[in-house]
Amino acid sequence: MNILVTGGAGYIGTHAVVELLDSGHNVCVVDNFCNSSRISLARVQDITGKSVRLYEGDICEFDFMAEVFEKNDIDVVIHFAGLKAVGESVLKPLIYYKNNVEGTISLLRAMNSAGVKKIIFSSSSTVYGEAVMPVSEKSPRGNPTNPYASTKKIVEDILLQISQTDPAWSVGILRYFNPIGAHKSGLIGESPQGIPNNLLPYLCKVQLGQLPFLTVFGNDYPTKDGTGVRDYIHVLDLAKGHTASLDFISKTTGYYVWNLGTGVGYSVLDIIKSFEKISAVHIPFRFSARRPGDIASCWSTTEKAEIELNWKAINTLDDMISDTLNWLRLNPVGYN
Ligand code: NAD
Ligand code: UFG
Repeated sequence: MNILVTGGAGYIGTHAVVELLDSGHNVCVVDNFCNSSRISLARVQDITGKSVRLYEGDICEFDFMAEVFEKNDIDVVIHFAGLKAVGESVLKPLIYYKNNVEGTISLLRAMNSAGVKKIIFSSSSTVYGEAVMPVSEKSPRGNPTNPYASTKKIVEDILLQISQTDPAWSVGILRYFNPIGAHKSGLIGESPQGIPNNLLPYLCKVQLGQLPFLTVFGNDYPTKDGTGVRDYIHVLDLAKGHTASLDFISKTTGYYVWNLGTGVGYSVLDIIKSFEKISAVHIPFRFSARRPGDIASCWSTTEKAEIELNWKAINTLDDMISDTLNWLRLNPVGYN
């Protein structure tokens, strides 16, 4: 199939593009590189030996997007492009609504004009908010605790309403839990700009001595050791979740939601311990107050994706950390 991947130069996008190319699909990427590098796509081509057609531009620009659809006979869109830093969204809500909501509307208008009605959307476990764990696709979505989560909820609603109005649409909503890890080759991985917000990229900087210590946000949560618990999933497993959902939605119509997680929650202290064990480096850390917008725990059920997509995450936490460290060893300053 011909797949348009928005945000295909980013962390999850590059891993998904490798998986798509390896599965025999043709891939066209739209990215404005606001949080990524052209080098990542060159690396994708090194890994797969296949080329990707790149359109540099902003999904918010309708004319640009319409042209991409005119020039390519697209079957399905996989929509990663978006801003993703929870803390930044609290400071810059309008930029998040513009990029993530307006950008998606522009993309959907261009799809409509071209008669392309199949889309997979990168949503997030943050749509569940404070919930009873584990969360399943039937769990109610909670009140968004930050503008980023709000944009994901709004886009989910837009896609639901479109598919209800026009039954020719086929929509796959993928609610990711916490993606970490990197490609086994060490050629692609997460390369955040500036000081990282997320736990694993921050730990990497501490391990390299680029930052002095990790701040653990909160040790008074109602969890096994007081620190936040999350469902960390290898980005390679996540990438396979996209090809599995692509197979599903390409053969049907309607609106489908799948959680992509492992079903296991690890605390921040668990992660530090595993990271120290595998890297053989001591990680200094200090406890601080809870981070605004954070919840205590979040982990997923896995049955729906297992049954409907025949997909299950297989990499262990040790695999995720080893592959992160391999990427880091080969690329101590990411793609820079
Ligand atoms: P990323 O920042 O690495 O990748 C996003 C890509 O989209 C980047 O290459 C960026 O340049 C591009 N982009 C952003 N806005 C754009 C625009 N207006 N036009 C064109 N390109 C644009 O992020 P990621 O971790 O790969 O996340 C991909 C998607 O998955 C995002 O929608 C994110 O919200 C979602 N998600 C990520 C996580 C996570 O923890 N990484 C978890 C849940 C959901
Ligand atoms: N944490 C620290 N110190 C840090 C960074 C994080 O203690 O320096 C803690 C957090 O408080 C939390 C856990 O580590 O308990 C994980 O935090 P991350 O920032 O790595 O991840 P989040 O769960 O906050 O959010 C991530 C992405 C979102 C995505 C969500 C669910 O940033 O975009 O996972 O997929 F929506």
